[in-house]
Amino acid sequence: MKKCLLAGLVCLSITASPYSVFAQSLQSTKINYRQMALRPISTDVIVIAHRGASAYGPENTLATYKQAILMKADYIELDLQMTKDGHLIAMHDETLARTTNAKKLFPNRPPWRVNDFSLEEIRRLDAGSWFNQIYPAKAKTEYIGQHVPTLEEAIKFVKKHGNGKVGIYIETKTPSLYQGMEEKVIEILKKTQVLDDRNLFLESFNEQSLRKLKSLAPKVKVIQLYKGRTLAGRNLHQEFKRISEYASGIGPNKGLVSRKLIKAAHQNYLLVHPWTVDSQSDMVSLLSLGVDGEFTNTADQLVDLLEKPFISHGAANGHITNSSAILWARTNGDTRVQFEVSTDSQFKTNLLVRTSHSDDHHDFIVSVEFVGLKPDTKYYYRAHAVSSQYHVTGSFQTEPEKTAKSQ
Ligand code: G3P
Ligand code: CA
Repeated sequence: MKKCLLAGLVCLSITASPYSVFAQSLQSTKINYRQMALRPISTDVIVIAHRGASAYGPENTLATYKQAILMKADYIELDLQMTKDGHLIAMHDETLARTTNAKKLFPNRPPWRVNDFSLEEIRRLDAGSWFNQIYPAKAKTEYIGQHVPTLEEAIKFVKKHGNGKVGIYIETKTPSLYQGMEEKVIEILKKTQVLDDRNLFLESFNEQSLRKLKSLAPKVKVIQLYKGRTLAGRNLHQEFKRISEYASGIGPNKGLVSRKLIKAAHQNYLLVHPWTVDSQSDMVSLLSLGVDGEFTNTADQLVDLLEKPFISHGAANGHITNSSAILWARTNGDTRVQFEVSTDSQFKTNLLVRTSHSDDHHDFIVSVEFVGLKPDTKYYYRAHAVSSQYHVTGSFQTEPEKTAKSQ
């Protein structure tokens, strides 16, 4: 698990922040964010396992929560729906059709709405086999017969298997459908003794639901989610100032994230946790913009990035001649960087390799020169910090051979 990415704040003055969650501490870190224009305002960038490690197993099941904990996620995210008899369960959809065998077990009860079923009925469902059928390459026998967890069960499970260190990030889904949902959430958080935990977030697209949660438990941190075009045409600074009355942060769709959005959010002391970010290149782009955490189905990929320095800028090429090229990159920490060049896009033949060290003295910028290249030839390049699996790739074309006339 990565710790303390924040190397200090320069561009934002937040000394007056009323939120203890933003308490700044300059601690030792292998990762240095100094070269970034915008930075996280939290002391840690957090890994939020979206519905558990849901790229690898059936979402919102204990098996997948456990995988995410083993991958060292900081938070397990789960979605809430409510049963006919008023129990909160971990489920994304309003119906049981996609992620359970409800259609098979209860063929006469379409459209299989969660709130048309009792907890006892939902307990009988298999919430794991669908994953094996859709993703045979990732299938595991342990997924067969996974049940739909209640909120209470999910919290207890995460606390136990995460040794109290893994946080819970809970979304009230379609709360307008479920009378009394917020009261029940707070009741269960109290019962499981996590309501006062520092690593607890509640999230929703529904502002009224968040305001209600906040009125029931004023210390709880709530995150306002945004999707699609919900921010289109709005003055971001005004919108974030308005929601900062009740929210500790925002959860925008990753496509909504820009420098402008991050700046407006941070100026209003709001954390920024975009969703759902699964590729390392998207993760790096968002980290470079200064997000405070990311929702991901591939928690292992984000943990891997945050643990060790990686290429944060580039690689780029320059000074191309008919026989040479210079490649450069920038990292976010002290590390060696390996550059490879080949005429083979698969890098299996004609491979040229150079390494260089990036360090604070050179502002973490490294460059290498490749010589002896063929003229008028397309070359592929790839580079990675040796501390990281994250690779960046590109290509360039060498200049044509100089003729006697052109000389
Ligand atoms: O909670 C963040 C993100 O999960 C919102 O979208 O549909 O995956 O719950 P969804
Ligand atoms: Ca969610």
